[in-house]
Amino acid sequence: MVQKVADNVVLIGFMGVGKGRTARELAKRTGYFAVDTDDMIESMVKKKIRKIFSEKGESHFRALEQRAADWLEKNVTGTIVSTGGGFFMVNNIQRLGSVIYLHASVENIISTIHKHPKAEKKIKKRPLLQDLDAAKALYDKRLPLYRQAAHHEVVVEGK
Ligand code: S3P
Repeated sequence: MVQKVADNVVLIGFMGVGKGRTARELAKRTGYFAVDTDDMIESMVKKKIRKIFSEKGESHFRALEQRAADWLEKNVTGTIVSTGGGFFMVNNIQRLGSVIYLHASVENIISTIHKHPKAEKKIKKRPLLQDLDAAKALYDKRLPLYRQAAHHEVVVEGK
């Protein structure tokens, strides 16, 4: 396991599990600032994630995630970092701080998104959530990898 270098809390997990919401709540309770890697990327390139995927493809987006990770590692400490669902794949994520995997079952995640008043918007903005079967397969593939990347796991199902 890679030693942490920066003193941040980094939340990882599948799309829609509540990483951003959890980060904002933790920030409120601790007085830390919260930053979100998707927000960082959107403001860096002045484009929505959906557009980055459709115009430049997923691999370009992953390269932007790596840039965001490198910047965080060099410049940010004492911060709650929420991440996109694939951010855990950056090199040495554990150097950014304590990595916490937020876990819920895929059924719970999908049904929570579908019950949300803004469900349509929430699905539309996530390119990898367009096809339900593909999203479930992605969840199965990633589950062991999230666990491998994290220092800790917190079950958030139903919370
Ligand atoms: C992605 C998750 C999204 C966003 C992008 C790719 C993924 O973030 O980074 O659409 O690969 O799982 P959320 O987890 O906030 O939906």
